[in-house]
Amino acid sequence: MRKTTATPADVSRRVVGVPAQPGRMESVSLAEGALPAPGPTASHPGPDADPAPQASAPGAAPMAHAEGPGAEADPQSVIAGAGPVGRSGERPTVRLRDAGPDEQPRYAPEWLELREPADAAARSMELLDPLRIRLANLPGRSGLAIHDLGCGTGSMGRWLAPRLDGAQHWVLHDRDPYLLHFAAVASPRAAADGSRVTVETRRGDVARLTPDALLGASLVTASALLDVLTREEVETLAAACAGAGCPALLTLSVAGRVELSAPDPLDDEIAAAFNDHQRRGGLLGPDAVSVACEAFADQGATVKVHPSAWQLGPENVGLTAQWLRGWVGAAVEERPELAERAEPYLAARLAACAAGELRATVHHSDLLALARPTGGAG
Ligand SMILES: C[S@@+](CC[C@H](N)C(=O)[O-])C[C@H]1O[C@@H](n2cnc3c(N)ncnc32)[C@H](O)[C@@H]1O
Repeated sequence: MRKTTATPADVSRRVVGVPAQPGRMESVSLAEGALPAPGPTASHPGPDADPAPQASAPGAAPMAHAEGPGAEADPQSVIAGAGPVGRSGERPTVRLRDAGPDEQPRYAPEWLELREPADAAARSMELLDPLRIRLANLPGRSGLAIHDLGCGTGSMGRWLAPRLDGAQHWVLHDRDPYLLHFAAVASPRAAADGSRVTVETRRGDVARLTPDALLGASLVTASALLDVLTREEVETLAAACAGAGCPALLTLSVAGRVELSAPDPLDDEIAAAFNDHQRRGGLLGPDAVSVACEAFADQGATVKVHPSAWQLGPENVGLTAQWLRGWVGAAVEERPELAERAEPYLAARLAACAAGELRATVHHSDLLALARPTGGAG
């Protein structure tokens, strides 16, 4: 769902017939990318630490108007991040920048924007109270320093900053300077009690974070990140948090389970193939939360986990359709022999979605790890 790949199998680019309205068939591509023109990336210098541009409006700036994401992506193709997309460079108009053979998966701001309301509704509120208590008891606290790892366009900050009291400085980490630009422009400005929120961006690989990089951190947070890391990377992250003595709130890791209204015999096969696709290259996919629990517990942290499922219905048609295309597209890329049955399956699911008749529960988990405080934070 969230993982893209640079080398999709041809089968995921097939064109399938989907009834857009009863009695009418329409061609729908499973996986051609549809990204905006480069825009900010072209002029973004991409330094390791960028001062964030400051918006004047108080509170969280709405993401859609930051310069670009908007809703211009072709709704009949898979947006990068929702599922497998075409090889970078196949279509010059959707190319974000020169792609080398080692290019990492990219996430289109459209995809992150599309999922932001469902993410916000899904994140567990139950983990916030124990977090607030821990933050209130930090020694020598004069404001919170919060590191958001794999921040994308910054949705975690827009969700969490207005739910915590006190002045906050957010350090937004991502390897993608294009997304960092959007995160900085649409960053939150005010805490729950009206205190000031400031941000800076840091471009880099969060999988190599050291305790030094988290010096003075009050909190490490992330959303939809753990499942695209490896076991070793999660262990490195847990060790860095333990070294810095700071808690970690890691939300929206995929759990590998999906429920769709009007269950279909193919549901389980698609889910299993999708989960295997997520595990490609040693990434954790649906194993992320159990591995993270072990890694943080091994560092002496107390770990709490809470469900945070997307509950998708008629009000989420755009997200559900993209998610379906990505989910089925990845499954078919993983197991091409599914293609023949997956095409009518996807067509029927999309038709039900367009008619407002499909409900989907996409299970995720949130994790709060309370490290032993070192006494130096704050
Ligand atoms: C699924 S997106 C989630 C973005 C954002 N947290 C949200 O919830 O909308 C994953 C993000 O993590 C970033 N990312 C993945 N692996 C990374 C790594 N090793 N180092 C830095 N950023 C990474 C991607 O660029 C992307 O922005």
